[in-house]
Amino acid sequence: MPWNRRAHTGNRLSRAFNIADLRELARRRVPGFAFEYVEGGAEDESSLRHNRAAFERLRLRPDTLVDTSRRHLKTTILGAPAGAPLIIGPTGLNNMLHPDGDLERARASARRHIPFTLSTLSTTRLEEVAARAGGRLWMQLYVLKDRAIGRDLMQRAAAAGYEALVFTTDANVFGSREWDQRNYRAPGKPTLRAALDALRHPRWMYEVLLRNGIPRFRNVEAFLPPGAGSAVGGSTVLPGMFEASITWDDIGWIRQFWRGKLLVKGVLSVRDAERAVALGCDGIVLSNHGGRQLDYSVAGIDVLPEIAAAVNGRLALLVDGGFRRGTDVVKALSLGAQAAMLGRATLYGLAAGGEAGVTRALDLLCAEIDRTLGLLGCNSVSEPTSRHIRRE
Ligand SMILES: Cc1cc2nc3c(=O)[nH]c(=O)nc-3n(C[C@H](O)[C@H](O)[C@H](O)COP(=O)(O)O)c2cc1C
Repeated sequence: MPWNRRAHTGNRLSRAFNIADLRELARRRVPGFAFEYVEGGAEDESSLRHNRAAFERLRLRPDTLVDTSRRHLKTTILGAPAGAPLIIGPTGLNNMLHPDGDLERARASARRHIPFTLSTLSTTRLEEVAARAGGRLWMQLYVLKDRAIGRDLMQRAAAAGYEALVFTTDANVFGSREWDQRNYRAPGKPTLRAALDALRHPRWMYEVLLRNGIPRFRNVEAFLPPGAGSAVGGSTVLPGMFEASITWDDIGWIRQFWRGKLLVKGVLSVRDAERAVALGCDGIVLSNHGGRQLDYSVAGIDVLPEIAAAVNGRLALLVDGGFRRGTDVVKALSLGAQAAMLGRATLYGLAAGGEAGVTRALDLLCAEIDRTLGLLGCNSVSEPTSRHIRRE
């Protein structure tokens, strides 16, 4: 490189100018095995890479000489107001990245008026998140073999006032993240190298492990065998608990226990989107689970145009996978999505700096969305449309 471009190498959130900078901060802040857990994808990681590559092929086409001085990001998601077309998506084991990971993600969402989704495999009880974070809360559901777990979660989430249930359908079989597995000599037992690496992160060791103890799967631990409630022990038994027999008939089962809004996460075809509509679901999330489940999968953004045309506004259309820039979000809006769900973008913020880091991630993305709208000749998130986008 002829000139001296150099990314920020310190640890100040205010010096992170984009999500990639936050990712670098995160990478330095947490041990390698924790970063690998966030970062990795299944098998050849082709789905993971493709989620990003898919955005590269989509080019924006602006309207020029439009008055864009009235720009704002306010919108409606699932019939309620939101500060931006964004949702924080469900991710398990958040407290491995920062001591109060679930609460910090939820609080940052509430602060920026966007919904937060708590994972079934969260490390904070759903009641505690409701009591201590506030804001719009959605609960993600994995249907595990022991149906009592799902029933319990749905009933508790309803009692705690959660607004929506996000039924994840692409984890009927557990994806194989091989790089993650290489950090353990046996399930739940880190290799010597991984353990030594953790020792090189004393701040993380103190804040995450020593002060709070090994994170636990608080929502489901009452149902796990003795010793399996912690992130270390649980990782050995959980993969075997995923239920391969889930089908569309389970929407009826869910409806017995859940009367609130219902979204299906993991739809990637028109056929399945039509089924969700026919079964009265309130929304779908086009998702390949951030490339962590089926490898060589299409990306949510790839199938968005055909699914948007088919569902034609009959349910809320959300998409995730690889969203790292405001332009990514505006592309999704142009192709018919109502909002984008964020996974790793906000996990980098969390690992880099807790609630302030998640807030920084949201603020960076919101500033980018706002700038992109302006440069595209739009004043609101409802304006980008197929006219503004071209697939190369
Ligand atoms: C570390 C990690 C944990 C995740 N845990 C869950 C989970 O518990 N439930 C779920 O439905 N999806 C889970 N996901 C998938 C995300 O909800 C989302 O689909 C994905 O992260 C989007 O891709 P992105 O990370 O590239 O934005 C997880 C993703 C990551 C990166």
